[in-house]
Amino acid sequence: MKRIGLLTSGGDAPGMNAAIRSVVRTAIYYKMEAIGIFRGYDGLINEEMKILDHRSVSNIINRGGTILKTDRSDKFRTVEGRRRAYEAIKKNDIDGLVLIGGDGTYRGGYIFNKECGVPCIGVPGSIDNDINGTDYTIGSDTAVNTALEAIDKIRDTATSMERIFIVELMGRSSGYIAINAALSGGAEDVLIPERKYDMRQLCQDIVAGNLRGKVSWIVIVAEGVAKAGDIAKIITETTTLETRVVTLGHIQRGGSPTAKDRILATRLGSEAVNLLRKGMSAKAVGVIGSKLNIVRLGSAVTKRSTAVNSLYRLIKILT
Ligand code: F6P
Repeated sequence: MKRIGLLTSGGDAPGMNAAIRSVVRTAIYYKMEAIGIFRGYDGLINEEMKILDHRSVSNIINRGGTILKTDRSDKFRTVEGRRRAYEAIKKNDIDGLVLIGGDGTYRGGYIFNKECGVPCIGVPGSIDNDINGTDYTIGSDTAVNTALEAIDKIRDTATSMERIFIVELMGRSSGYIAINAALSGGAEDVLIPERKYDMRQLCQDIVAGNLRGKVSWIVIVAEGVAKAGDIAKIITETTTLETRVVTLGHIQRGGSPTAKDRILATRLGSEAVNLLRKGMSAKAVGVIGSKLNIVRLGSAVTKRSTAVNSLYRLIKILT
């Protein structure tokens, strides 16, 4: 293995830059060349790439986003797109790929490896924390902390003006950010894709709380469940209480990564290079507990769902 290609693909996540730095510097340490591929799989198809030296990844460990840019490639979903990507790999003497991204990135790498045999290693980068084979994905801790910071601020105004706030957080099919931000932010309820919700019960809880003298509420809703505005409308119509809506949106994808995300990214980026050096292919790296964990890329492409029931119960006990 002389030359390793690396790319980031799918939604960006804080800590991707720390992973890039780790891949590049580990490769250089072992006398290999690292070639950065820009704009995900599209950049591979279009041969948008350049050699990254030690200095090119200086001062990025603390930066959100990805210096390699990222994209969700439609072309790479086609046989023709992947054929062109393979040609680019051969032409540029790339011996193996490190793919930093979420389940879509993994699926692309899995098919590509099956079709062309190019060694591929997946590094989990996604705020959603929904990838098999790892307890955490790079970016998920930062996203929860970003959401928490917002909830803390919302609480100040919610209690002062005695209002009900519905806060919409990211997660189309994953309630990881929502339930963890709800638990750490002391929210009264949370609506997530992994769990059926009951609007009647929620409204009854609010009315009962109101009769006890409880005057402000924070209800978190994951974007995949419903629009915060629709939930607020039902609450106001049913309880006659005043509601306000906050949709946090892409703020959750940005910002300087937490120490936890940087450490994870640094460990996993380096391990991905180690696996390629050892001749391994079609694997994904992760952590289980405090230990590194290696799984087949094929088994990591299916989404993992957050274990939510005990966390949800705790939120309701404490409300
Ligand atoms: O990367 C994951 C994610 O942030 C999800 O939580 C969210 O549903 C989605 O990406 C948003 O995608 P886009 O940036 O394309 O709007």
